[in-house]
Amino acid sequence: MKPAKLSVETTGKVIICRAAIAWRSNAPLSIEEVEVDPPKAGEVRIKVISSGICGTDNHIIEGTLKTPLPAILGHEGAGVVESIGEGVSSVKPGDKVLLTAVPQCRKCDSCLHAKGNCCLKEDIFSPVGLMLDGTSRFTCRGRKVHNFFGTSTFTEYTVMHEISVVKINDAAPLENVCIIACAIPTGYGAAVNTAQVTPGSTCVVFGLGGVGSAVVLGCKAAGAARIIGIDINEGKFARAKALGVTDCLNPRNFKKPIQEVVVEMTGFGADFTFEAIGTIETMVSALESCNLSYGVCVIIGSSPTKSQLSFDPIKLQSGRILKGCLLGEYKTRDHIPLLVNDYMKKKIDVDSVISHKLPFIKIKEGFDLLQSGKCIRCVLLF
Ligand SMILES: NC(=O)c1ccc[n+]([C@@H]2O[C@H](COP(=O)([O-])OP(=O)(O)OC[C@H]3O[C@@H](n4cnc5c(N)ncnc54)[C@H](O)[C@@H]3O)[C@@H](O)[C@H]2O)c1
Ligand SMILES: [Zn+2]
Ligand SMILES: [Zn+2]
Repeated sequence: MKPAKLSVETTGKVIICRAAIAWRSNAPLSIEEVEVDPPKAGEVRIKVISSGICGTDNHIIEGTLKTPLPAILGHEGAGVVESIGEGVSSVKPGDKVLLTAVPQCRKCDSCLHAKGNCCLKEDIFSPVGLMLDGTSRFTCRGRKVHNFFGTSTFTEYTVMHEISVVKINDAAPLENVCIIACAIPTGYGAAVNTAQVTPGSTCVVFGLGGVGSAVVLGCKAAGAARIIGIDINEGKFARAKALGVTDCLNPRNFKKPIQEVVVEMTGFGADFTFEAIGTIETMVSALESCNLSYGVCVIIGSSPTKSQLSFDPIKLQSGRILKGCLLGEYKTRDHIPLLVNDYMKKKIDVDSVISHKLPFIKIKEGFDLLQSGKCIRCVLLF
């Protein structure tokens, strides 16, 4: 498959296109005409082809996670490079790329460490919504608009730093691989990299949305014998079972806390538990669901800004391990292209995590599907 043809006429010029603007939290996004500036040094302008809608975008819309607004949200995209700024060497116009929220500068302490993937070049935990030079490339109705996580995929064109742009296989189907920019590495990597799930083990996945579904794929690939899926929305159970979940539990169907149910079901608690929801209560439940002596609990969900996790430290003294991870501990530019190749070799069933595809202009419908619990991952097509 040949790379998409692009017009050289736009290079160096402002592009006027459509984008979904979040003017404030707790309000629907509005599709508006925006001006997208050309990329400066070290930056890349990308024509977005597809974008997933992640639970993290929804946390911003619902106001539980904070980022400067107005902004163009979206951080799970696939597209084609339109033009590059001075000094950019890892991608060129026409390249197929994934748009990720986590950079890999290859120079900071975290990037230079064999395992670290939380690149220090951008602080994604306190987002400022601007490029590294402190300015924005987006203007709407004469007003500057922030980016989100340096990514912003809910727009026909975006500008990103080269360090967050992942060049992928020329033959990758761009309408599906966008979720390999967030949900898939996050969940799959939580199982295979962070927890290092072992063959024959018992795993528990809290939250069966896009990220939790990818955890299930990772647990299965690592050879887990039993995968218990927990969600308050029983509509998620059929697809979860198709992905590899062996037992589905709705905490609302039990009088006792769900962690007590899990401990009874497993004898002494699960080998590995994963929290893919983002509430303090479910994080504590996930911790208490793993074996008190050798269980490993991985926190994936993003908790509300400034929230505090509190539990009796004795729960760790017995030997439990509590971990967290960002994007499944993958170094984005090094490892995500390999995940795309694994998907293309049918080693990772990415397509089964995508439940809906909608045209970009129906983004509001996409968020309605997520908020009403009717989708696993909804992908927007541009
Ligand atoms: N660590 C990372 O790198 C990273 C990356 C992406 C997403 N995230 C976070 O992961 C979490 C999941 O994201 P997602 O895109 O899968 O979201 P999602 O909305 O698709 O899935 C969340 C699931 O949790 C379920 N749920 C909600 N409250 C529950 C409760 N009290 N008990 C049981 N189930 C409950 C929902 O029904 C839904 O199925 C979010 O917090 C998101 O911000 C973290
Ligand atoms: Zn995400
Ligand atoms: Zn770095």
